[in-house]
Amino acid sequence: MQRVYRLAALLVVVALVISACGGQQAAAPAVAPTQAPAPKATEAPKPAATQAPAATQAPAAKATEAPKATEAPKATEAPKAAAPSGEPIKIGIAVAQTSNVALFGQEQVQGAQIAEDLLNKAGGINGRPVKLVYQDTAGDEAGAINAFNTLMNNDKVVAIVGPTLSQQAFAADPIADKAGVPVIGPSNTAVGIAEIGDYIARISAPVTAVAPNAVRAALAANPNAKRVAVFYAQNDAFSKSETVVFQRTVTDTLKLELATVQTHQTTDTDFTTQVTNGIAAKPDMVIISGLAADSGNLVKQLRELGFKGPIVGGNGLNTPNLFPVCKAQCDGIFVAQAYSPEATSAVNQTFVTAFKAKFQKDPGQFSGQSYTAVQVIVEALKALDQKTKLDTLDLAKQRSELNKQILVGTYDTPLGKISFTDKGDIKQEAFYTAQIKMNSDGNTGRFVFLK
Ligand code: ALA
Repeated sequence: MQRVYRLAALLVVVALVISACGGQQAAAPAVAPTQAPAPKATEAPKPAATQAPAATQAPAAKATEAPKATEAPKATEAPKAAAPSGEPIKIGIAVAQTSNVALFGQEQVQGAQIAEDLLNKAGGINGRPVKLVYQDTAGDEAGAINAFNTLMNNDKVVAIVGPTLSQQAFAADPIADKAGVPVIGPSNTAVGIAEIGDYIARISAPVTAVAPNAVRAALAANPNAKRVAVFYAQNDAFSKSETVVFQRTVTDTLKLELATVQTHQTTDTDFTTQVTNGIAAKPDMVIISGLAADSGNLVKQLRELGFKGPIVGGNGLNTPNLFPVCKAQCDGIFVAQAYSPEATSAVNQTFVTAFKAKFQKDPGQFSGQSYTAVQVIVEALKALDQKTKLDTLDLAKQRSELNKQILVGTYDTPLGKISFTDKGDIKQEAFYTAQIKMNSDGNTGRFVFLK
């Protein structure tokens, strides 16, 4: 009986595909496979290895081959449930798959892929499958706006996870807010993101909650440090926001001396001027706010020109994709964390096990956060569907009701137990600090969590 049903469904799909090939374009409804959906080629991000930005200063992504679906983590790791069926519910993933910002975006895609796998294995949304639809934002505001518009208007997603940068969020989020589409920022840490609008929330703890922890840890390890040189990218909203917090921590909280403040652009590769000025100020400690490629090169050049003291990096340095940029010189950088793969909760260990099985490495903060963003949307959809069946609501109503539900829920996630303020900012309890430990090959390394 089931086979007959599947065959009939297949014929319908084939018929729809054939008719779609006949020249009909946007007006045709999306073809809805009845079983676990295979994403359309255009919606699935390319494997990580092809995503690394080509710029010479950016690292080539580790050529880890993602194992085929058959090698996916054992079913025992996900709660058992009947395979979801019916029309998938689409959630948009708008992160940077290209440009230097893909150093973060690659990790976000990986976290989201694990979320889709595990959450569907656990029954999806009360039996309906979740389907993630990916649109590459690249690294700028225009890319984020395009990706958001495509997801909202063409793909008709119920909510969006993205974009990667706060700089992009300030441009794209107001458009989703106006359209009444819930957005969860997976990595936007600048002050003011949740305040963009009623439909904008984030699971990425702001710089105010995270950044000071790394300075404290660096000072604890270097108690004689007095003079601090601060570097930041002045063309990036997150870096500007984070440096304010770092500088206040230095002067107001820790009563250290701000020896110099040096600025750069996220597109810079040569930091000779800033590093020369910075070292001339005779700092005992350096603090950097930037994105991954610029910060990695800055670290490298600081070491090459002779700075030997501790370096504190902000959220932009919180990715293993930094390692191939500053190589052996990344060793010792202090970075505060809003996620730890070592957290012992069942939900985190299930995530880590599945992630390691698929990507042969521990998930970093960007992956933990993108997993969490998808999980929050899925759990809110489940709760909503239990109150009012989703298929009785039109898309606009699904989006508005989902937005309310996201904000009232509490969630047991890899980031710990979280909930939201009225404005949509994350309420999170656990934060960590790590230090980068590079391996003797000079290319690979890890974040060692400090006790
Ligand atoms: N945390 C960085 C930002 O908000 C990626 O832009």
